[in-house]
This record gives sequence, C-alpha cells and structure tokens, in this order.
Amino acid sequence: MQLSLSPPFAFASSRYSQVVFLMVPGVLFCCFLLLFVFLQWHRPKDKRLPPGSMGWPYIGETLKLYAENPNSFFVNRQKRFGDIFKTHILGCPCVMISSPEAARIVLVTRAHLFKPTYPTSKEKMIGPEALFFHQGAYHSKLKKLVQASFLPSAIRGSVSEIEQIVLRFLPSWKNTTINALQEMKRYAFDVAMISAFGEKQDLETEGIKHLYHSLEKGYNSMPLDLPGTPFHKAMKARKLLNETLRKLIQKRRQSRRQGGGLLGVLLGDNDNEKLNQLSDSQIADNIIGVIFAAHDTTASVLTWILKYLHDNEDLLEAVTREQEGIRSKIVEANRGLTWDDTRRMPLTSRVIQETLRTASILSFTFREAVEDVEFEGYFIPRGWKVPQKPNTYMPFGNGVHSCPGSELAKLEMLILLHHLTPTYRLVLALIDWGSH
Ligand code: HEM
Ligand SMILES: *[C@@H]1O[C@H](CO)[C@@H](O)[C@H](O)[C@H]1NC(C)=O
Ligand SMILES: *[C@@H]1O[C@H](CO)[C@@H](O)[C@H](O)[C@H]1NC(C)=O
Repeated sequence: MQLSLSPPFAFASSRYSQVVFLMVPGVLFCCFLLLFVFLQWHRPKDKRLPPGSMGWPYIGETLKLYAENPNSFFVNRQKRFGDIFKTHILGCPCVMISSPEAARIVLVTRAHLFKPTYPTSKEKMIGPEALFFHQGAYHSKLKKLVQASFLPSAIRGSVSEIEQIVLRFLPSWKNTTINALQEMKRYAFDVAMISAFGEKQDLETEGIKHLYHSLEKGYNSMPLDLPGTPFHKAMKARKLLNETLRKLIQKRRQSRRQGGGLLGVLLGDNDNEKLNQLSDSQIADNIIGVIFAAHDTTASVLTWILKYLHDNEDLLEAVTREQEGIRSKIVEANRGLTWDDTRRMPLTSRVIQETLRTASILSFTFREAVEDVEFEGYFIPRGWKVPQKPNTYMPFGNGVHSCPGSELAKLEMLILLHHLTPTYRLVLALIDWGSH
C-alpha cells in the first residue's frame, strides 16, 4: 500500500493497516519470539498460578496465537479466565495482565519486582548500557538526563528546526506515490538525529546516519552471528557506529564544547567528580537507544493518522481548517511556526491522542518477574513474563520506564500536520502485495 500525495488529496485502507500493524509491534514482538526458549520452570505445589492454559509442552499456545488474530486470541482468553491469566507463547510462560489496576501494580507500585525484558540480540545491537535495559540507580540517573532534554522547555526551541525538516520533505512528496510508513520513518529519523546531536551538523553526522540504517536492518533478524547473516552485518555496523560515536564524543569532550542535543546533556553531566562521569560507551549506547525508541514509534503513529484522516473526510476538513487558520496568521506576520502556535491546535492534538489510543502501536510491554511474586491472590514464578493488555490507554507506558519522548513525538506530529493538511490531498494508491 502506498500513498499518493498531491495538491488535491487522497489515501489508503485495508491492507495498509496490516502493513502498519506488522511494522512497529514487530520490533518488540519478533524479538520476543527469539528470546524465551529456556526458562526456569519451578512451580511450588501449594501456590496457585493464575487460571489459563499452558498448551503443549515447549510450543505452548504459540500455534494458536498464530492461527488466530492476536487480539481475539487474547480477548477470548480474557473472557474465559478473567483479567489475569497464564499462557505459554513464543517459548515462554507468561501472565497476561489486562486490567488498568493490575497494570499499574506491575509498572508503578511494585515496579521493582518486574524488570523490563528484551531479547539479548536487541540488547547487543542497541548497546547493553542503554537505559531501557536497566533498573535502579543507573536507570534513574540516565532517565533524569534524558527526561531533562525532552521536557517542553527543552524542546520548544526546536520548533523551527523541525519545521525546516518538514519543509525539506514536502516537495519530494508532491504528485508522487509514496510509501507512507517509509517516508514517515525518514522524517522521524531526521528529527531523532537533531534531538540526539543538536541542530548543528557534525562532521560525523552523515556516517552515523548511514551506519544506523545498516544496524537497523538487523533489528529483527535471527541472532545468528555467521558471516553473511543480517545479524552479522548489523553487528559489524554497530562496531563501526561505536567507533564513530566515540570519536565524536572525544572531540566534543576535548574541545570543551558539549554541543547540543541529548549528547550535549549527557556530556554536560560531568560537573562533579570524574567518578560520576558517564563513560563513552554509556553515552553511545543511550544515544543509539533514544534514536531507536524515537523513530519507528512516531512514524507508525503518523502513518495511522494519515489513514484515519483519509478515512474520515469531515475530520480531515476540520483539521485542515484549524491549520489554515494558524497558517494564515503566520503568513500575515511573515514569520515561522512557533511553540505557542503548536499549543493552539486542540483538534489536531485530539486526533493525535485518539490515534494513539486506537492504533495502540505498542500494544504490549513486557516485564519479567525478578523473584516469585504474590499477585492479586495468584503466584507468579520468577522468570515469567508479564505483558499487559492491549488498548488500555497508556500509549506512553507508565511508571519508571514510561516514555520520556512523548512531548517531542506529539510536537513533531503537529508540525507535520500543520504543513501537510492545508496544502496536500491524500490519495490512496492500492498496491497489491499479494505476489510478494
Ligand atoms: C508516538 C511515539 C512514541 C510512542 C507511542 C512511545 C511509547 C513508549 C512506551 C510505551 C514506552 C515504555 C516501554 C515499556 O514500558 O517497556 C517508551 C519508552 C521510551 N521511549 Fe517512547 N514512544 C514514542 C516516542 C518516543 C520518542 C520521540 C523518544 C525520544 C526521546 C522516545 C524515547 C523513549 C525512551 C528513551 C524510552 C525508555 C524509557 C525507560 O526505559 O525509562 N520515545 N516509549
Ligand atoms: C564500544 O567500544 C567500547 C570500547 O572499545 C567497548 O567497551 C564497548 O563494549 C563497545 N560497545 C559495543 C556495543 O560494541
Ligand atoms: C502536480 O499536478 C498538478 C495537476 O495535475 C499540476 O498542475 C502541477 O503542476 C503538478 N506539480 C508538480 C510539482 O509536478
């Protein structure tokens, strides 16, 4: 499914939704598939596990999950067993949690008992010192720094830079058929790059972009480190990326010019003693981590927004009117878009919120019990995974690991829609993927 953009507009539907659906959840989901084959399986007899079926030995209910639509797989079990049930999918015993109250316990009130869990291959590619793999003191130190660099007060100055990126992309979409998700990814990637490194391009920027794209190709590959495999190629790119980033970090350290972006913030955190200073690879892993977290997610939401606007003409018209109102004032004053303008887009903001809710692009987050846990009258053994139910409204997660980039994500979506809706019409082009 592709999208033609032309001044007078149009758009896409059914198959399209599958393309989008498979992309981002795929990031988490496929990896999940690779990971959990061996797990401790101890079940004290006197303790009550949640209800539910563990299916066949080893394969569990994985085949059933694939045979059905994942949503109905989970909904059927929820109807039968309630809001907390056990299953065994993709090689690991899981407890599925589907009430907002229970999700809050796992993510917020008893978060220390449930650590985030990712496949080892993902950890290697992103870098083991990236914040999302950690709990405790190291995590909260980094989280504070990352949050600080994405607060509204920190990102409000980026509006015109992000607007420039939009204005560079728009002409290339004119009168052509584009793959919406791919283009949204390119856009979100460029925004992620300025968030990571600041507005001023470094000598290394182009190299970093190039290497990151090579790395990204291996994200969902089998973790088979043999010459020629996608995983091997990705790891090779990761090593080069490590070197390039370290060169940039050292250059910025030596010149005592921390520079902009998250990198500037991470380098700036060395006022105190040297002991506390983040190491080069801690910084590098977190920079790559943030680029990873920032770009597929935002691109996926944007793609859904385009689809929903295409499908709901009245809504599209209302959003267009809202943006035209702002546009005409800006043109009259002969200035660029500002942060304050973006705060006066209530309808467009609601479209974003509603898309985050309905498209639910990260339907699951995974946690692993770090010890045997007594939970709502049930027993969850150490090592079991605890995913939450899709469609509870927490698009940016909750608790210590919640998303620090939510304001930036919304901002870049608003800026794109500001320029896209008044001047472009979306035309759906259906491409038959059947034969591929
Ligand atoms: C619409 C776009 C986005 C969505 C839907 C989204 C969603 C999420 C969610 C649900 C989590 C929590 C994962 C968990 O609990 O396991 C998360 C974490 C994270 N997000 Fe986002 N995100 C988006 C954009 C961004 C952007 C633009 C950035 C860039 C700053 C970012 C950076 C991060 C980071 C660094 C974490 C890990 C936080 C931690 O482990 O403490 N995200 N995101
Ligand atoms: C990056 O390089 C440093 C120093 O050589 C090394 O300690 C670290 O493990 C490397 N990181 C990755 C992800 O390869
Ligand atoms: C796009 O198409 C319209 C109508 O077909 C035409 O008037 C316009 O010149 C085209 N623009 C570009 C940039 O090709």
